[in-house]
Amino acid sequence: MKLKGLVFAMLMGLALTFGATAAFAGDAAKGKTLFESTGKCKTCHKTDSTKLVGPGLAGVKSRHSEAWMKKWVGGPQAVWDANDPEVQELKKRVGKEGKPKTAMAPGKLTDAEIDDVVAFITSL
Ligand code: HEC
Repeated sequence: MKLKGLVFAMLMGLALTFGATAAFAGDAAKGKTLFESTGKCKTCHKTDSTKLVGPGLAGVKSRHSEAWMKKWVGGPQAVWDANDPEVQELKKRVGKEGKPKTAMAPGKLTDAEIDDVVAFITSL
């Protein structure tokens, strides 16, 4: 009984370790493919610093935390509404202070895909 408990605890520990790694470490190569696939990010964003529909994403990691980018890519309108300091800075930069809607379309990605795409854009 005790041994079973110990083995169970060890397995849970392993599962948590790997689960956490998977949740935080996105795959930038997969993210690049997603970024460039039809109708996704590339429709509106360039990977250098020039504007398309949205800002060029070169150096984006100096403007946003990884956690913020994950939230934003998962649901831009909710983040826009939350109006945190990073959104306020973005609104100011793109000249949309006081605008109720963001022009960024939600990515319709799974959490793992969001991690991948964010790993890719933080490499720009
Ligand atoms: C329909 C166009 C569109 C698509 C598709 C789109 N975005 Fe955006 N994105 C925008 C716009 C526009 C903004 C700036 C906010 C605004 O003007 O509403 C933005 C802002 C951002 C920002 C903040 C940039 C900064 O300089 O602060 C990031 C990061 C971002 N988008 C990532 C992505 C990723 C990753 C994808 C693909 C999953 C994506 N976007 C798809 C239009 C788009």
